[in-house]
Amino acid sequence: MSKPKFYLTTPIYYANSRPHVGSAYTTIVCDVIARYKRMCGYDVAYLTGTDEHGVNIERAAEKQGITPQQLVDKNEKIFRELWKLLGITNTEFIRTTEPRHARAVQNLVRRTLERDKTLEPSQRAIYKKRYEGRYCIYDNLYVSDTPEPADCQICGRPGELVSEENYFFRLSAYQQKLLELYKNTPHFVRPDFRFNEVKSFVESGLKDISISRKSIKWGIPWPDDPEHVFYVWYDALTSYMSGIGFESEDPQKRAEYERFWPADIHAMGKEIIRFHAVYWPAFLMAAGIELPKQIIAHGWLLFEQEKMSKSKGNVAYPEPIVKVLGNDALRYYLLRDVVFGQDGNFSRESLITRYNADLANGLGNLANRTLAMIERNLGGMMPSVGSNASAAAETFKGENLGEIAKLYDRFEFSQALEKVWGLVAACDKFLAAEKPWTYTDDASKREVLERTLFTAADVLRLACVLAHPVIPDATQKIWEQLGQAGKIEDVRIDKLKWGGMKPGTKIRKPEGVFPRIDKKEALERIETMENEIRNAGAAGKPGSTPDASTTTTKTPAEGASAGTSAAGAAAIPAGAPGAGTPVGGVAPAASGAGAAAAATAASAAPAVPAKIGIEDFAKVELRVGVVKSAEKVAGADKLLKVMVDIGDEVRQMLAGIATSYAPEELVGRKVVVVTNLAPRKMRGVESNGMLLAASAGPDGKAVLCTFAEEIPAGAKVK
Ligand code: MSP
Repeated sequence: MSKPKFYLTTPIYYANSRPHVGSAYTTIVCDVIARYKRMCGYDVAYLTGTDEHGVNIERAAEKQGITPQQLVDKNEKIFRELWKLLGITNTEFIRTTEPRHARAVQNLVRRTLERDKTLEPSQRAIYKKRYEGRYCIYDNLYVSDTPEPADCQICGRPGELVSEENYFFRLSAYQQKLLELYKNTPHFVRPDFRFNEVKSFVESGLKDISISRKSIKWGIPWPDDPEHVFYVWYDALTSYMSGIGFESEDPQKRAEYERFWPADIHAMGKEIIRFHAVYWPAFLMAAGIELPKQIIAHGWLLFEQEKMSKSKGNVAYPEPIVKVLGNDALRYYLLRDVVFGQDGNFSRESLITRYNADLANGLGNLANRTLAMIERNLGGMMPSVGSNASAAAETFKGENLGEIAKLYDRFEFSQALEKVWGLVAACDKFLAAEKPWTYTDDASKREVLERTLFTAADVLRLACVLAHPVIPDATQKIWEQLGQAGKIEDVRIDKLKWGGMKPGTKIRKPEGVFPRIDKKEALERIETMENEIRNAGAAGKPGSTPDASTTTTKTPAEGASAGTSAAGAAAIPAGAPGAGTPVGGVAPAASGAGAAAAATAASAAPAVPAKIGIEDFAKVELRVGVVKSAEKVAGADKLLKVMVDIGDEVRQMLAGIATSYAPEELVGRKVVVVTNLAPRKMRGVESNGMLLAASAGPDGKAVLCTFAEEIPAGAKVK
């Protein structure tokens, strides 16, 4: 019998910059759903991709001195690499600059125009009209339909004035149809409170929207009217169909579309529900195409109290976390700590705490102990005593396996994981009460020993299957150590039963999958790598991952001890071949010495081309500073907190120079500081500026920029 189909999508990501942890969140959530559904016997199509058109991309490219195509080519590669690193199992990837996508978009509108021909002009879905209003180039939102200044409801930035003739979509005519759809599909949008917001929005009346732009070149041309390009959202939403073969020239792809459309789930962050739950169904109704079945929305990842986003400069990058803690750690933390549907705080500290508590001390420790005892005391062979399902089921009768699967079905991932780890904790408690290690040499208790270890191994097997959609790598490894055949992903998660360990199974040598991590060292390694990414971006280098540039690290899953990272110097001494820092000096933070003050600068700095104009240089405010005091920052080996007199005030700044300078050496010293950087916190301490230093030698020793002549604090450096 053929498998039932399941089709889910992530939003396609703007390819104007590299992904951060916030963007990775949607993709990881979808990956968990995709893996879970496969384990329930579905044939899953999982689409992700990149949104590559629009003014913002056009301008971002211009700023970097490259073409829009070059910019999106560069970033699309980074997205794909990251998804690989995160173990994402998407089956499809679509780019909106691909010809197959343009064809789909044009044909979707053609279908609508064909249907329109049969209607009175006043009834037609598409018509031409002059548009005058405000438009947000970052969210591609029509902010208001009047020329008066207005800010974007999503990002808060001012909308730009647009005044041109456009093709309009008669959204107003779809109000009743949409309300009927919502009535007939009670879970069309999840969570419910978001659905209520959508309903009220539609009930309050809909205005027609412009679906083409005339003053923009970087987009898909309107069929037979190439002066216009498609509105980015019309273009982007159609990727959900073009990505699985809609209007494809390849018959096999078309068959794929026939099989998988309509989508079972479109997943996304809360700020873009309206495009999906209002515009998209209306566009499809107008073209006579079946509607997606469900739209699910998650909250935002907040970092330093605000939505993590490049424009706010408060982003954390996934790559360093994966390199230091492993792929499973980030996936587990995001799914466990963020309640799906609500906003959640991201913090590297709590990520490492979770890792140590739940992965290293929890599942990892249970696996190590159980496997080691079986190896040592039972010759590495699963015993036959105790192998009946009822023994284990009796011991853990409070734990309902079926309920855990249902929590996945309801997208209650955090609760699902809480229950799986409840099982792990119950097993720890069971072992602590049984104390099998106290009677390993007592022949009269052999049966009890066998039953106890069998039960623990069975719990381990079940916990691994149930956690597999979230932590795929470690669970597969434990699965193999348990001597289980085949891939864990092929086990039916919805049909799990107690007592499934087969007597006589030979286990493998136990090997730790989650070594304990030293928080301080891990944080430093992560920060160092993050700075490398930021500096690569700021210097206009292609967005390399730390791995590809200078850092060699092992993930804990590869058995690395939590040693100091071998991070090389990302910054190059001024004047050295390849030096490319835009401010003529090297931020100490950027040096191989480690975590640093330059994070402030780099995160706020837009990417710039390798050569910059004088006007770009003029944006950086440099002044002479005199160090008033300096001290170490608790918990950070490489950071110093420095109070610097910059003439009209004394500023607190953080600098990653503690391995090069003792605090007392700095007092009274004249330095060069960047004074117009946005403030940034590191280790909970605010930094309000940046000290400039060169980075010398293979270790990247920081050497502060200073002055030979007398010069007062506050003097401008230019
Ligand atoms: N290109 C549009 C989507 C078009 S879909 C037809 C877009 N792109 S985006 O890159 O801005 O966002 C993509 C996804 O990343 C969205 O689901 C968005 O909510 C998510 N996130 C971006 N920053 C986020 C957080 N800080 N937290 C959680 N998710 C966030 O919108």
